[in-house]
Amino acid sequence: MANSNTFDRRKFIKVCVGAGAAVAANPALVAEPAGELIPAERVRLVDPDGKTLDPGSLAIGESFVFHYPYVTTPCFLINLGSPAEPGAELTTADGRAYRWAGGAGPGRSIVAFSAICAHRMSYPTRTVSFIDYRHQPMSPSNTSSGWWSRGQVIYCCSEGSVYDPREGARVLSGPAPQPLAAVHLDYDPDEQALFATGVYGGSMFERFLTEFGLQVSLAHKRDDIRREARDTTVVWSMSEYTRTKAC
Ligand code: FES
Repeated sequence: MANSNTFDRRKFIKVCVGAGAAVAANPALVAEPAGELIPAERVRLVDPDGKTLDPGSLAIGESFVFHYPYVTTPCFLINLGSPAEPGAELTTADGRAYRWAGGAGPGRSIVAFSAICAHRMSYPTRTVSFIDYRHQPMSPSNTSSGWWSRGQVIYCCSEGSVYDPREGARVLSGPAPQPLAAVHLDYDPDEQALFATGVYGGSMFERFLTEFGLQVSLAHKRDDIRREARDTTVVWSMSEYTRTKAC
């Protein structure tokens, strides 16, 4: 079983590509996250039948759930419907700066983040989810320019944290002290396949598995809750994954 401290610390590598000159010289660098990337297993995203996930099957406006970097830690997969540009400069709660790598997939519109709220770690379960993606404005009649009227947010209705998936899950509103941790995605155009290859930003997986270990163990019917995802991970539509979307 992987020791999560080992996972979270020893495997850190610095991928600082923050020098603007370097990026200007090689625009491809923009697609790499700047900050601390935690490389985990390169894991192929598959559908519930075990087949390579077709990125085209990710309906715009719906949220999907997969488990990564551990077999028990939920993440969102979202097709925003248009390219999600890289470059958002973000900061973790303990002051580490990093740069978001943007969307992946054929239209660079697919993004992935930890689904564990950065406030009190509300997360999707099979029974209920208090955190989800909202593609439509939450208040279409609201004429203000706030997030209520713009949609395309990840919203946690436990205490009202709002994240912007177009900006690396930057906090727009509410008590969350940092963005959701980002999952780095690789897209292989030959195979038309998506792979999760690491996480970066404010990882809360160890704290999550410590505080919710019993619930997670019962829900997943396994004792090895810190087992790293390997080879493949199944992507579920949120509607299939959870019985009740609470907000
Ligand atoms: S747990 Fe999400 S806002 Fe508190």
